Amino acid sequence: MITHQIEGLSGQSRILIGESLNNLNQYLPRTKVVVITDSNVAQYHRALFPSAELIELGSGEEMKSLGAVRGIYSRLVELETDRSSFIVGIGGGVVCDVTGFIAATYMRGLRFGFAATTLLAQVDASVGGKNGINFRRYKNIIGTFKQPEFVICDATLLTTLPEREVLCGAAEIVKHALIRDPELMSYLETNYEKLMQIEPEVISHVVSVSVAIKSAVVNQDEHEHGLRRILNFGHTFGHGLEKIRRLSHGEAVAAGMMIAARISMKKGILGQAAVQRIEGLLKKLKLPTQVPVNRSELMNALKRDKKRQEEGVHFVLLSGIGKTVVEKISFDDLEALADGIV
Ligand code: GLY
Repeated sequence: MITHQIEGLSGQSRILIGESLNNLNQYLPRTKVVVITDSNVAQYHRALFPSAELIELGSGEEMKSLGAVRGIYSRLVELETDRSSFIVGIGGGVVCDVTGFIAATYMRGLRFGFAATTLLAQVDASVGGKNGINFRRYKNIIGTFKQPEFVICDATLLTTLPEREVLCGAAEIVKHALIRDPELMSYLETNYEKLMQIEPEVISHVVSVSVAIKSAVVNQDEHEHGLRRILNFGHTFGHGLEKIRRLSHGEAVAAGMMIAARISMKKGILGQAAVQRIEGLLKKLKLPTQVPVNRSELMNALKRDKKRQEEGVHFVLLSGIGKTVVEKISFDDLEALADGIV
């Protein structure tokens, strides 16, 4: 097992790569435990936490809403959950986001941990302490910073994931390579097929390297005043695309990363060979590299993104594989830069 540690202002988090969900009980205090999960996990893994109270979420982004959260608060009251209770989120990105938000706000905060059951949750959503829900058309606009005490990343849970779900996580792994790690990029170029086939050794390596990269960034800038912005690479246009097209988060981020890479080339800081390499890897991973879309429609969607600051965004560019440059760019300039690309 490999352990990564986040030392946040909002708490300490241990991310346990290769730990088994079967050992969950070892990490739980001897108090009331409430498990928040999805129907899939509840169906297959209920026996692992026989004495815990269970709150089952429906699926999809609609769960990240005030309405859904209100229902969970009600259940917590009914279950007489108090400040000595412990909450565990077992599931994918939505379960982790909602559980973290609930645990950070109910009674001003309860102890909590995660078992991440999708690749996306293991490499991204369960790590970092940001817990957000959506409001109106804004993604993650209401939220908290609070670190889960532990995150269990059990690779055996990923073997039954549908391919689209695997690729969703793969996009965030590629992002980590592009912003911080040329070696991971080469590794993915060699091992992409094994990644798609969920080969345990490859999965364990890419999850571990991704978590190491994300933890190191979060350890330096938990509250996203500077460095942490690089984790948003590909997400400015990605979130815009996600709003206006039926794309998974990973597909939208992949296309968003290509737009950001092409903009970086247009600005003269990234060479064509690097752009072609990124495109080649994303294509191998069956992720989209271009989504036909109307530029003004996309610009309107991304202006509504929560990262809007005054009239622009801190846009993450690449100056090489593993090297980023963050620039404050106005929406007008971004639209002009996207001309010929989107
Ligand atoms: N929980 C996801 C993040 O902090 O980025």
